[in-house]
Amino acid sequence: MKEAILQMLKSGTDFISGQDLCEYFKVSRTAVWKVINQLKEEGYEIEAVNRKGYRLVSSPDILSESEILSGLSTEVLGKKIYRYDCIGSTNDQARMLAENGAPDGSLVIAETQDRGKGRRGRGFFAPPGSGIWMSLILKPEIPPVEASMITLLGAMAVLDMLESYGLSGGIKWPNDLVADKKKITGILTEMSAGPDQINYIVLGIGINVNMKDFPEELRANAISMAMISGKTYHRAEVIQRVMKSLEKYYRMFLDSGNLAFMKEKYNERLVHMNKEISVHEIRRVWKGVSRGINDIGELIVSTDAGDTIVRSGEVSIRGVYGYAE
Ligand code: BTN
Repeated sequence: MKEAILQMLKSGTDFISGQDLCEYFKVSRTAVWKVINQLKEEGYEIEAVNRKGYRLVSSPDILSESEILSGLSTEVLGKKIYRYDCIGSTNDQARMLAENGAPDGSLVIAETQDRGKGRRGRGFFAPPGSGIWMSLILKPEIPPVEASMITLLGAMAVLDMLESYGLSGGIKWPNDLVADKKKITGILTEMSAGPDQINYIVLGIGINVNMKDFPEELRANAISMAMISGKTYHRAEVIQRVMKSLEKYYRMFLDSGNLAFMKEKYNERLVHMNKEISVHEIRRVWKGVSRGINDIGELIVSTDAGDTIVRSGEVSIRGVYGYAE
């Protein structure tokens, strides 16, 4: 009932009468009043006027279950939320929850991570109160070889969110989003699979939202949404926008089994399109010109010897901006 009342308060600018809420939910006035008080305790500013009812004045920037659910317009993604104040890594927690039966589309989110994971065993800076550190549990019925495409869906969905706020960003294939030549989002996809079927995928996304600055060692290479625009963003709304866009792309991907539907858009936003890059593989490093992704999300790199296909997970692309990956 709390999410539903919050949703009703959010959907209008006018007062909603206590009587209407009682009748709608078939509960007593005291029950409605209790929910309103709970919301106030969580930081919602709610005006209560005799004979008029309740009106939402402002919502706090909190990542509570009710705040995320109350504006979420998806059917599957984020419908079940596991929320923590502080956790080692939302990806690790999501893996544990997925092993224990958490449903497809579950969202694991933490206010802060103290062992946030980046790619290649690196850490990931995830301070409290200013960013979005979340992992989605997905259980698609697709062959394991197709799983790496999900990282690209995540990148596209975050980029859509940035653009919906009038912020422009670019993609560094396959999993980094950059703005002003600095990293604004990192994505880490992990999978548990047998030879022919996926048990689950964890799509971990870290978005720098409201930070005003970064520690000295990251300052040259990291940026937040707030640092670009000078505004602050309501993080639950940011999540809702990412989820909505991701669900749309995820469905299209499940229907088609490839990324042809978004290839053009993705390539238009690649920061290294038609630029020289160096490809770092485990045993060799080579250079070529990046030509964008093909229908299944692999990067085409042309060299004097012809075009080569680079698969995600195997390599890191450098030479685009100062930072590696
Ligand atoms: C990278 O840029 O190397 C990937 C960073 C991925 C960070 C996110 S934050 C939420 C999720 N939990 C983690 O421990 N990592 C991912």
